[in-house]
Amino acid sequence: MAKKTTLTDLFIHALSDVYSAEKQLTKALPKLARAATNPDLAAAFETHLEETQGQIERIDQVVESSGVKLKRMKCAAMEGLVEEGQEVIDELDKGPVLDAALIGAAQKVEHYEIATYGTLCVLAKQLGFNDAAKLLAETLQEEKETDRKLTVLAEQQVNDEAAGVA
Ligand SMILES: [Fe+2]
Repeated sequence: MAKKTTLTDLFIHALSDVYSAEKQLTKALPKLARAATNPDLAAAFETHLEETQGQIERIDQVVESSGVKLKRMKCAAMEGLVEEGQEVIDELDKGPVLDAALIGAAQKVEHYEIATYGTLCVLAKQLGFNDAAKLLAETLQEEKETDRKLTVLAEQQVNDEAAGVA
């Protein structure tokens, strides 16, 4: 018989998953920053690394305020997304085309996180974890802002530079 799973279990699972995702990302972002040629793109990755460290602390606050206990697990989705980022670094020469590919890889990460934090926010509200919901909404906003920043970098700088590569 299937195990009885509650909405709280789903919340704990998603929160544990994103904790692992953020931890993995703190290891991947310095590599993305080093691989980037455009200084604004490298700076965006550095900034998001700092934000990500803050987001991990925020998850600790979510855990405390909602009184749940995280499970040890590895986010398989982030593992795959980070692997794809590593693939473009391995396959492309340094330069604007790699920069464009790095933006694409990073935006997949951001969209995954936006989906996850969106779900977590809604679950937290449903469960009456109102302080947790507020904290999760802050992170959701940061992820959306990072995604937007990457789009602007692609449109205003990187894609033009990459299009000029013969
Ligand atoms: Fe994040």
